[in-house]
Amino acid sequence: MKRVVAISLLLGAIVFASDGYEVYKKNCMSCHVEIMGKEEVLKNFNKMKAPPMVEVSNRLKENILIKDDEEDLHRHLFILFVKDYITNPKIDNSMCHAGALEKFGVMPSLEGKINNEEKQAVAEWLYDRYENVKF
Ligand code: HEC
Repeated sequence: MKRVVAISLLLGAIVFASDGYEVYKKNCMSCHVEIMGKEEVLKNFNKMKAPPMVEVSNRLKENILIKDDEEDLHRHLFILFVKDYITNPKIDNSMCHAGALEKFGVMPSLEGKINNEEKQAVAEWLYDRYENVKF
């Protein structure tokens, strides 16, 4: 009996938490492709609307520096940045290459199209999806 309760609690948690990948597919994929190598990007540059997510993730990880080599803190700051950027993108905050910004322009805000829980889920996904996947 105890086990049944534990399992249904677990399933409940899974159903209610937003799935970051689903959020990505719904809200981000129309502009950001999930994965693409540098050469492919150069070849397809004219058709692209935004940098691929693998590049975004790696670039932010490189740019967000912390003194201590603390993985949890790094992930936390990354998530804060991404959550803010989704509804509050600004040229001053962008860590995009100048050339890419010139081509793509600044990302349009998704304010009103995504809730807080979805922002959290997709930001976590963006960090974890590309763990050990370099651009
Ligand atoms: C309508 C197109 C579009 C959609 C939809 C979109 N983005 Fe973007 N995004 C862009 C463009 C263009 C850039 C590059 C310019 C910039 O940095 O603002 C970008 C850049 C970013 C950056 C990088 C900022 C930096 O400093 O390097 C993050 C993070 C990001 N997007 C996250 C997301 C997430 C998460 C979603 C979905 C919830 C999403 N984007 C949906 C167009 C889009």
